[in-house]
Amino acid sequence: MAPVDTELGPTGRPEIDFPQPAPLSSHGPARIIAMCNQKGGVGKTTTTINLGAALAEVGRKVLLVDFDPQGALSVGLGINPHELDVTIYNVLMDRSTDVRSVVRTTAIEGLDVLPANIDLSAAEVQLVGEVAREMVLGRALRPVLDDYDVVLIDCQPSLGLLTVNALTAAHGVLIPLECEFFALRGVALLVETIEKVQDRLNPRLEIDGILATMYDSRTLHSREVVARVVEAFGDNVFRTVISRTVKFPDASVAAEPITTYASTHAGAEAYRQLARELIARGDAA
Ligand SMILES: Nc1ncnc2c1ncn2[C@@H]1O[C@H](COP(=O)(O)OP(=O)(O)O)[C@@H](O)[C@H]1O
Ligand SMILES: [Mg+2]
Repeated sequence: MAPVDTELGPTGRPEIDFPQPAPLSSHGPARIIAMCNQKGGVGKTTTTINLGAALAEVGRKVLLVDFDPQGALSVGLGINPHELDVTIYNVLMDRSTDVRSVVRTTAIEGLDVLPANIDLSAAEVQLVGEVAREMVLGRALRPVLDDYDVVLIDCQPSLGLLTVNALTAAHGVLIPLECEFFALRGVALLVETIEKVQDRLNPRLEIDGILATMYDSRTLHSREVVARVVEAFGDNVFRTVISRTVKFPDASVAAEPITTYASTHAGAEAYRQLARELIARGDAA
C-alpha cells in the first residue's frame, strides 16, 4: 500500500527530491543535448539558457549553441547579434574558422555561448550541396567537447537541415512541450524524425525526456495536458515541470538567466531541479 503522505507532483507521480550533484574534479568530454520541437514558442530557448545556467551553478562547464538564425539565445545572454563579425555560421561554412575564436564567455561563470545571427539562415541553403551535410555541426563542435561537461543546442522551430545537424551531433534530445491543448500535435512527426536520424545517421541518439513548460496549476486544462503527455510517454516525461510565469520574459528582457535575475523565484528553482534531475538520470555529468 502506498504511504498516505505521498505527495503527487504535477505529472501525477510522486515528487522526488533529486540530490544535490557532487562537484566534478575534472571536466569533459561533453554530452550534447539538442532542445528540439518544431513548434515555436514552447520554451526551447528559455530552457537552453536556464538549464545551462543551473548546470553551471553546480559547477558544470556548459556550452550553449545558438542554432536558430533568430539569435534569441544570443540576445537572451546579452549579445547583440548584429554586431558579431563571426558566428556559428562561419564555423559551419569555413573550415579555417576556429570554433574557439567564436565562443563567448557570459556573465555566468562556467557558461559559454556559441552565438548566431541571421547569417545562419543561409547555411541551411548552402549546406544542401555539401558532402555529409548532416554532419557539419558535429564536426564543428568536436574541437571543444573536451572543455565542457554539457553542450546544449537551441534548435530553430523546424525539422529542416539545421535541426537534423543538431540531432546528428547530439547524444540526447530534450523536447519542451507547452501545456496547451495542441501540444501533442506534431510530436509524432518529431519522434519520426528522431527515429530516422537514429536509423541513418546517429544510432547513439536517445530521447532524454519531455519537459512540460508553461504549466498553470490553477487550470484543469494544464493538468489534463500533462496527464495526457505522461500517458503517452511515461517515464520519458521529466518529473520537473516548468510553470508559466512572467519572470521568464522579464529575465529575457534583462538578458539574464532567471537563476540570477530572480534567483529565489520558483521558476529559477524549477530549472535547478531540472538540472539535478538530468544529472540524476545520467543524462549529464
Ligand atoms: N515558463 C514560461 N512562462 C512564461 N513565459 C515563458 C515561459 N517559458 C518561455 N516563456 C516565454 O515564451 C516565449 C517563447 O519562449 P522561447 O523559450 O523563446 O520558445 P522557443 O525557443 O521554443 O520558441 C518567450 O517570450 C519566453 O520568454
Ligand atoms: Mg527559440
